[in-house]
Formats: sequence, structure tokens, C-alpha cells
Amino acid sequence: MNKTILITGANAGIGKETARQLALIKDTEIIYLACRNLQKAEVAKRELIEATGRDIFKIIILDVSKPETVEKAVSQLSNSIDALIMNAGGTGGKTPEKLTKEGVTELTASNLLGHVVLVNELIKHNKLNNVALFASSEAARGIQKMGMNRPDLKENSVEEFISIFDGTKFKGNFDPFQVYGWIKYGGTLCMSSMARKYPKIKFISMSPGGTRGTNGMDDLPFIKRLFLKHIGMKLIMPLMKMSHSVEKGAKRFVEGINNPKFKSGVFYASKENILTGPVIDQSSIWKDLDNHTFQDNAALAIQKFI
Ligand SMILES: NC(=O)c1ccc[n+]([C@@H]2O[C@H](COP(=O)([O-])OP(=O)(O)OC[C@H]3O[C@@H](n4cnc5c(N)ncnc54)[C@H](OP(=O)(O)O)[C@@H]3O)[C@@H](O)[C@H]2O)c1
Repeated sequence: MNKTILITGANAGIGKETARQLALIKDTEIIYLACRNLQKAEVAKRELIEATGRDIFKIIILDVSKPETVEKAVSQLSNSIDALIMNAGGTGGKTPEKLTKEGVTELTASNLLGHVVLVNELIKHNKLNNVALFASSEAARGIQKMGMNRPDLKENSVEEFISIFDGTKFKGNFDPFQVYGWIKYGGTLCMSSMARKYPKIKFISMSPGGTRGTNGMDDLPFIKRLFLKHIGMKLIMPLMKMSHSVEKGAKRFVEGINNPKFKSGVFYASKENILTGPVIDQSSIWKDLDNHTFQDNAALAIQKFI
């Protein structure tokens, strides 16, 4: 049972709803809300206590796009944690293509680099006991109906992954809506590689599915945001089984860490052509996800920036 859980990006959207659902499980003892903004975290903490009647939330300040803040946060963590939910991320803020001082794009930093640093640090200090879940997306294997292409890699070599993480692969053509899928693909492969490297910890990637009512699309250009967030997600996509409530999205994360049927090293997301309903092993849709060489190359590539 996971008694102590840390969730990144827990002040809003799916992360906050996951915290709410986990607090309603009576065995849960502590939930760390790992957020980058203290004020937002305090508001979320108050609302979560009110919604669940349980005062079990502790705030940890970290920005996953800034590895030094992640290292500091882990050093300040007094307990070990049973479960880690790497939820923070999205389309990379207002400047997704900009490079961080580590040399990756902000899109890579906020979805992936900081989470890899977080796992490294937790393991190094013996502070991760059972399970680590990475918030992936069906975009990692392409979502045809939304015009999100399957990442089209030539070799899946270490060098190619480096060029994805530092953005050089997309020079002059950096569309965060598309590149997002490539980063989630790289991150998902990294998790599968870590699953083999650390067999005592369960690593899974889980997509929440198409989830309404979050801030996830707020940084996209106006027209894309208007269509996807306000028209598509609310009106058209539910009819096409392409979006569900934030409760359903978060439930996938809650089950992901607690249900033993989910196996280490696997990427779970919706069946092909829909973004709702039961999840399946995505390597049944795209074999590359289960290629150990590709997985290890992605993991080696991200470690080069640490
Ligand atoms: N919604 C969907 O349909 C969908 C589908 C597939 C996958 N996902 C994935 O699910 C996760 C949650 O998405 P969401 O829709 O709930 O998004 P959201 O409403 O935008 O929430 C994202 C959370 O992450 C935090 N965050 C972002 N960058 C951060 C950073 N550098 N350091 C620390 N915290 C950071 C945000 O904090 P601030 O409030 O400070 O910005 C916020 O708390 C993301 O990884 C997303 O890619 C979402």
C-alpha cells in the first residue's frame, strides 16, 4: 500500500484531483504537493483539506524545469515516499523552445529532465520505496484525429534523442503541439529503461487520456486553444470518445500506482483512435515503445544533460 505519495504539479488540474482522490483512501497518510508556486500550493492545500476533511497535505517547493530546486527539495524531504507521480508538465509555457542552462528546451525540462533528476535523487538517497508513475500522453504514439503526428524518428539513437531534447531536430519548425508528443515519447522510453535498471521499483507511464477542465492548453496559440480547450474538449470530443472529466483522468493515475495489474516498464493509455475508456499496453499499437535499445538510448540521452 502506498501511504506516502509525492505528486508534482499538484496545485491544479489532474495533479490536484489525483491528490484529492488519494486522500479519500484511508490508508494514505501523507501527500506531498510538489509545486513551483507557494501561493498556488497553499490555496490548493486549503481546498484539498476542505474537500477531503483530511489534513495530510504537505507542500514542497520545486520547479521541475530547474534541477537545482529538485535536488534541494529531495534533500529537505524528511520521509521516504512510497509512490511518486510525475505529473507536472504540458506544452512548455510561453517559451517552450527556449533553452535552459542545462541545454534542453523548456518543453523538455518541464516534462522530463526535472523528473529524471527527481527519480535519480530519490533513489540516490534511498527515498523511493515502491512505484514511480510518469504522466505520458497518447501524443507519444500520435493522435491522428487531433492532427498530432506519431514521432517520426530515423534511428532512435542517443544522438537523435539529444537533438529532440535540445530542440535542434526541430530548428525552424518548432511547433509545441507536435514536439510535445516527441518529448512524451522520449520520457516514456526513459521510464521503461529505468524499470529494467531498478527492478525493485515499479516504473509505469500512464496517460490520463483526453482530460477536460485543466489548464493544460493555456499556452497554445489562441486559435488552437480556442478550438481545443473551449470547443473541441467540451463539445465535440466527448461525443467522439476523445475527452473525459478530470475525475476520470486522475483515476487512471490513482489506479496506476495502486493496482498490481499494471506492470513495470509498460506505457498504458487509451485504445487506438479514442482518448477515453480502459487503458491498454501501448506497445500493442506501436512496437517501438517496447524496444529496449530505444529505451536505453533515450535514457542515456537525457542523462547527458544532468
Ligand atoms: N489534460 C489532458 O488532456 C492531458 C492528456 C495527456 C497528458 N496530460 C499530461 O498530464 C499532466 C497534467 O496535465 P493537466 O492537464 O492537469 O495540466 P495543468 O492543468 O496545466 O496542470 C499542470 C500542473 O503542472 C504544474 N507545472 C507545470 N510546469 C511545472 C514546473 N516546471 N514545475 C512544477 N510544476 C509545474 C502546473 O503548475 P502552475 O500552476 O504553477 O503552472 C500545474 O500544477 C501533464 O504532464 C500533461 O502533459 C494531460
